[in-house]
Amino acid sequence: MSNSAAQPKLGIKNPYLDEFNSLGHKRVSGFSHFSLDHYRHRERMVKQYAWAIPNQIALDTIAKYGSVVDIGAGLGYWAYCLQQMGVDVVAYDLIIKGENHYTEGKPWTEVLEGAPEVASYYPQRTLFLCWPPYEDPMATDCLKFYEGNTVIYVGEGSSGCTGDYEFHHRLNHFYAEVEGEEYVHIPQWDGIHDYLSVWKRKLPNDSPYLEVKRDFCGRPVDENGKVIEDEDEDDSQKDTPS
Ligand SMILES: C[S@@+](CC[C@H](N)C(=O)[O-])C[C@H]1O[C@@H](n2cnc3c(N)ncnc32)[C@H](O)[C@@H]1O
Repeated sequence: MSNSAAQPKLGIKNPYLDEFNSLGHKRVSGFSHFSLDHYRHRERMVKQYAWAIPNQIALDTIAKYGSVVDIGAGLGYWAYCLQQMGVDVVAYDLIIKGENHYTEGKPWTEVLEGAPEVASYYPQRTLFLCWPPYEDPMATDCLKFYEGNTVIYVGEGSSGCTGDYEFHHRLNHFYAEVEGEEYVHIPQWDGIHDYLSVWKRKLPNDSPYLEVKRDFCGRPVDENGKVIEDEDEDDSQKDTPS
């Protein structure tokens, strides 16, 4: 297994981005007009392609960090784009056969059946989490099982609609955003504030299994039972720099 950064190649097929661009949607300073048509396009395209739209900057950023394990990959659209660039990606999803209400249609590349536990097999790879399900422990569990040092996350901030509270807390606690790659812009659907960020483990020897203590409301607490405030408040409002 090679961990060397793949050389980005130009001219990959990215029909999702092409179709999104062909809608002629313009977003000005983070706001735009909501239209029913736009909403319908989104509803179809997130299921057919992916919940986030990969652009070349985002793909090049991922490619710099070597081989990837993508968990909760859906139809594997991001993996498909990265593989065209020579990036070694292994993609997993819990549901690859039967009804997955997040996806519709055929996978874009091979997606293996796997739950967060598979993260423990790949400490040498970058853990890639794109739109982990909202208020679901999936992304948190991936962080618990992953023993590697690099996490790339695509989604909204801690008050947004991706991942659960503990995921954002763990990410901030155990990892630090890589300077210059804490907010990589991707095209956004109306009302969505997703972006890509790259995280490196703060202390490589931190036990990934270290449990966070919680109070009766499920909020993380320190050893004295005091609630640990989230450092990363409301960054779901982060938006496209104008
Ligand atoms: C919002 S979709 C995002 C899919 C894909 N990453 C994308 O951007 O299109 C969330 C995905 O996580 C998968 N998922 C949910 N729980 C999971 C789990 N415990 N282990 C692995 N995948 C899971 C779902 O089946 C779904 O495909």
